Amino acid sequence: MPGPYADKEIVLGITGSIAAYKACELASRLVEGGATVRAVLTGAAQEFVGAASLEGITGNPAITSMFGQATNPEIEHIAVARWADLFLLAPASANLIAKAAQGIADDWLTTSLLATRAPLLFAPAMNMHMYAHPATQANIATLTERGAHFVGPDSGALACGDVGPGRLIDPAAILERVRVLLNPVHPLAGKRVLITSGANHEPVDPVRFIGNRSSGKMGRALALEALRQGAEVTVVTGPHEAPLPRDAQSIHVETAAEMLEAVEARWNDTDIFIAAAAVADYRVDRPMAEKHKRDGSVLTLTLVPNPDIARHVGLKKRADQISVGFAAETHDAVRNATDKLSRKNFDLVVANEVGVAESGFGTDTNKAWLVAPGMEAEELPLMTKDALAVRIFARILTAVTASPDPSPVHGASR
Ligand code: PMT
Repeated sequence: MPGPYADKEIVLGITGSIAAYKACELASRLVEGGATVRAVLTGAAQEFVGAASLEGITGNPAITSMFGQATNPEIEHIAVARWADLFLLAPASANLIAKAAQGIADDWLTTSLLATRAPLLFAPAMNMHMYAHPATQANIATLTERGAHFVGPDSGALACGDVGPGRLIDPAAILERVRVLLNPVHPLAGKRVLITSGANHEPVDPVRFIGNRSSGKMGRALALEALRQGAEVTVVTGPHEAPLPRDAQSIHVETAAEMLEAVEARWNDTDIFIAAAAVADYRVDRPMAEKHKRDGSVLTLTLVPNPDIARHVGLKKRADQISVGFAAETHDAVRNATDKLSRKNFDLVVANEVGVAESGFGTDTNKAWLVAPGMEAEELPLMTKDALAVRIFARILTAVTASPDPSPVHGASR
């Protein structure tokens, strides 16, 4: 029986990491699954794993340097870059990710990454502080914007003694993504996903506002996952720092009232609504028309409640629409989420812990529970926002499949 990677040609790029030995398992399982694998080891990778092992496993010469093999045109970088169905970079170091993001081509692997048009799948592995560093995050964002894919990293004890995100994700999860990328299925093709994301800025005067710390990272992760599953994605975003995927339609707003208006305008054409924005619960009653001058006296602002966007649309939700909310909680996460489930007519609430390290506002990771009607709350471990988005969409897919109208027709009348 043909394996899941039958007739596929995969370049396995290995960089210097304590996890490099796991590349042998990856290579072995890819070959077992029918793939032709060409291993490429950077100089640093060769300090951790031997080219001979990978040659034995793949049955192909491993590539270890730019020069010296030019007599065989098959292993020249351009030839391989053309031949590949996928470049799998596992483990992918911070250095490789940085070079790929900047277009640096100073060895065989980075040169062929520039030359190939094949999909790129990075499985990062590095120290948690290196992973969290704004430079690494910006490089990952740049590559993602350009269409590269990332799987992991996992969170846990690292070789250096730190505990946090940075561990190479389990090879089974990497192989699952390889399978999906080589045989893309789009279970949400034809579905329209509407996501609110980011913060709100409620004006005090023309130069000041009341805001919050949402970065838009959670909304971005959700948008990327929805796109990966083939959906048409619109993000109504307040001010944010995380870049939004180019393939999503982005609607930029400032205030909660503007966000409500943008959501309402698209509500009838929405199949799946996800409220990830940190909507401002209050606004200044009468923002000042001119810049307030400091005169030493106490300034009192009157705040009035903003509309609740999720509740507003939840009350008119049709049976074929799915609505997912977030609950940002410092305590009693599941109880508060259960309350929001019914109050805002959500089908699923992602209760995330805020006010704790590595979870909630501005972080790359989140600690959450999935709370749905009639089911026991599912507690998830601390994971990257990308991984959480995958878990959320797995639940959404189950609900879509069970929906009374599994493939609604879009039209002006809806
Ligand atoms: O953007 P990041 O830095 O990545 O951070 C992500 C996040 C912490 C902002 C996100 O994961 C999150 O929890 N978003 C919801 C924050 C929030 O406003 O929670 P809440 O418990 O106050 O609101 C419950 C739900 O109602 C949310 O889905 C919210 O979007 C929605 N809501 C709230 C108030 C309001 N006026 N209108 C709403 O639609």
